[in-house]
Amino acid sequence: METLLALEMVRVTEAAAISSARLMGRGDRHGADQAATEAMRRTMDEVEMRGTIVIGEGERDEAPMLWIGEPVGVGHDDHPAIDIAVDPLEGTNLVALGQTNAITVLAASEKGGLLNAPDTYMQKLCVGPIAAGQVDIRLSPAENVARIARALGRKNADITVVILERPRHEPLIAEVRASGARIKLISDGDLSAAISCAVSGTGVHAVMGIGGAPEGVITAAALRCLGGEIQARFRFRSDEERTRAEAMGTSPDEERVYSTTDLAPGESLVFAATGVTEGDLLQGVRFFGGGARTHSLVMGYQSKQVRFVDTVHMFDRDRPPAVRL
Ligand code: FBP
Repeated sequence: METLLALEMVRVTEAAAISSARLMGRGDRHGADQAATEAMRRTMDEVEMRGTIVIGEGERDEAPMLWIGEPVGVGHDDHPAIDIAVDPLEGTNLVALGQTNAITVLAASEKGGLLNAPDTYMQKLCVGPIAAGQVDIRLSPAENVARIARALGRKNADITVVILERPRHEPLIAEVRASGARIKLISDGDLSAAISCAVSGTGVHAVMGIGGAPEGVITAAALRCLGGEIQARFRFRSDEERTRAEAMGTSPDEERVYSTTDLAPGESLVFAATGVTEGDLLQGVRFFGGGARTHSLVMGYQSKQVRFVDTVHMFDRDRPPAVRL
């Protein structure tokens, strides 16, 4: 099931990427997100599955599609029942401004294989396979930098940590600087950064800081496929968020550390992402007369396969050529 589903899922992220890439640099982050969401929703209904959105665009009454609990897919009884976590466009601002590293992304699993995380914040520590098992989010950032450096056989100065550039991260940035590590500050997109730190040759070794909890769950699915690790703790912005988390079955305890498997416990995990704008790991959508070319990453946990998919989409192939007078 996993391999077939993986190839179907990449069609979904490709369609979303092509639609949102049309809006690159147009200053319209909501339009880009909407284009990705609509294309993702439409393409999902061509997939032979009984899917349920477990992480999506919001609650049923606040999102027109891809809402939590929404059934998706062709949906016959003999089709597999799967849970799906989507981020139709990670990096809405990145697309609006034509900046790097925007992706369309989703994770799928057997029922119950992805934590139904509320749309709140999460403190995250992500590392690749070599440093996996060596870090501890409860320790200081400096201690974790030292542990990552030791695992990789490097000096602190040869470690690069990705951090979202936000005022809330000023103390973290100061501490990582003091450790001697290099920092790559990003304006958005801690999910794609976390995948990069689990792929050698990208030049980044860890992601630290507070970002979206839904992105954290999808990151966990990707890192399980890649053998990396995420540790996370919920960070609620209000009592209302804490209550919502509890209602969704999530512990309101902000000290509880969630492991990669806590966030994505599935055994049959599939992860798919397509580049929208040019990125460290994936190329962006390139349009040409009559078509587009996309670059995607698709992985399966059981199959232990990581595929980079380079697809040419021929929009005009079956259209009759224009009559020339
Ligand atoms: P978008 O939802 O606009 O695509 O932003 C994604 C993102 O940058 C994530 O990568 C990150 O986890 C989160 O937003 C950070 O949230 P905030 O912008 O509120 O700090």
